[in-house]
Amino acid sequence: MDGRVLVTGGAGYIGSHTVRRLLQNGYKVVVLDNLSKGHTWAVPLEVPLVIGDIADIGLVAQTIRQLGVTSVIHFAAFSLVGESMSDPRAYYSNNVAGTLRLLDAMRVTGTSCIVFSSTAAVYGEPARVPIDEDSVLHPTSVYGRTKLAIEGMLEDYAAAYGLRYISLRYFNAAGADPGGGIGEVHNPETHLIPLVLQAASGRRPFVEVFGTDYATADGTCIRDYIHVSDLADAHILALQSLDKQQKGVYNLGSSQGFSVRQIVSTAEGVVGHPIPVVESGRRSGDPAVLVASNVRARAELGWNPSMTDLEMILRTAWEWEQNRPRT
Ligand SMILES: NC(=O)c1ccc[n+]([C@@H]2O[C@H](COP(=O)([O-])OP(=O)(O)OC[C@H]3O[C@@H](n4cnc5c(N)ncnc54)[C@H](O)[C@@H]3O)[C@@H](O)[C@H]2O)c1
Repeated sequence: MDGRVLVTGGAGYIGSHTVRRLLQNGYKVVVLDNLSKGHTWAVPLEVPLVIGDIADIGLVAQTIRQLGVTSVIHFAAFSLVGESMSDPRAYYSNNVAGTLRLLDAMRVTGTSCIVFSSTAAVYGEPARVPIDEDSVLHPTSVYGRTKLAIEGMLEDYAAAYGLRYISLRYFNAAGADPGGGIGEVHNPETHLIPLVLQAASGRRPFVEVFGTDYATADGTCIRDYIHVSDLADAHILALQSLDKQQKGVYNLGSSQGFSVRQIVSTAEGVVGHPIPVVESGRRSGDPAVLVASNVRARAELGWNPSMTDLEMILRTAWEWEQNRPRT
């Protein structure tokens, strides 16, 4: 805990929650964010915010040196699956080339520890569920392929240059820090829970359900939702684990699956009224079921997600939907 933690993408959804948790745990923090998707209001006033790009080696190296950074948590990325298919260049450039340059800045400054935001999208269509970390890696989107490329880069840098890293493969991040004044704001929003709650609040006319003929109990897709505060805790455990291990790859999910219809009906209970739904056909590339095995993160990191109750997750997201800045 001697040095400062550089949080790239710390003005975004998961990054801003992790910054709060780092402060609560006594860490010193600096945020680097180019604000392409992030928000200055999401960064606490006491945290230095460097507005700039992870690809700017000079700026990153200067930030590391001037602020005494000893480790990096790397959230900064583009993460829209559909956009990645229509504009792969932007994704390879920002995610892969950007991370390469971030690693260069770490090398020239002798900074050796990084925790990286990977994704369940590296697995693609799973052969078995729950998905463990040894499952086949066969991403079906450009987004997933950029994240897998970065995982490979970290592994190779560890072998050749002694980099210490943890890749965290998140399933569906959800909810908001209760009373924390921060929450999920993506533009455009593509995540189910905020879309459902925006349909509930009238911010959008309805929520679209893609596919009702999957081989699941109610015909809709099943996903694993993990509260953003539990995700934030895992980053601190991952940082601490780099004192003891050089590298690791962990799934971060709740190990429970909920269907789209279950999300809508539980959300209706939380908001107290029906939510308008429009049923559409399947989207290509959407697997029927994605549920994590989180056994490894529990056993090796000591991670113990505590906000796994779906209604509780939705309550925190609903509180945020009602109070979020009208951007
Ligand atoms: N939200 C999820 O459910 C989910 C699931 C799996 C993985 N992830 C990964 O977690 C990370 C954070 O996701 P999020 O939902 O908080 O996204 P977000 O868009 O809210 O946050 C990303 C932040 O990174 C910043 N950024 C992007 N490119 C940058 C660059 N080149 N230089 C500096 N800053 C840059 C953006 O401005 C933004 O503040 C991403 O890497 C994403 O791929 C998210």
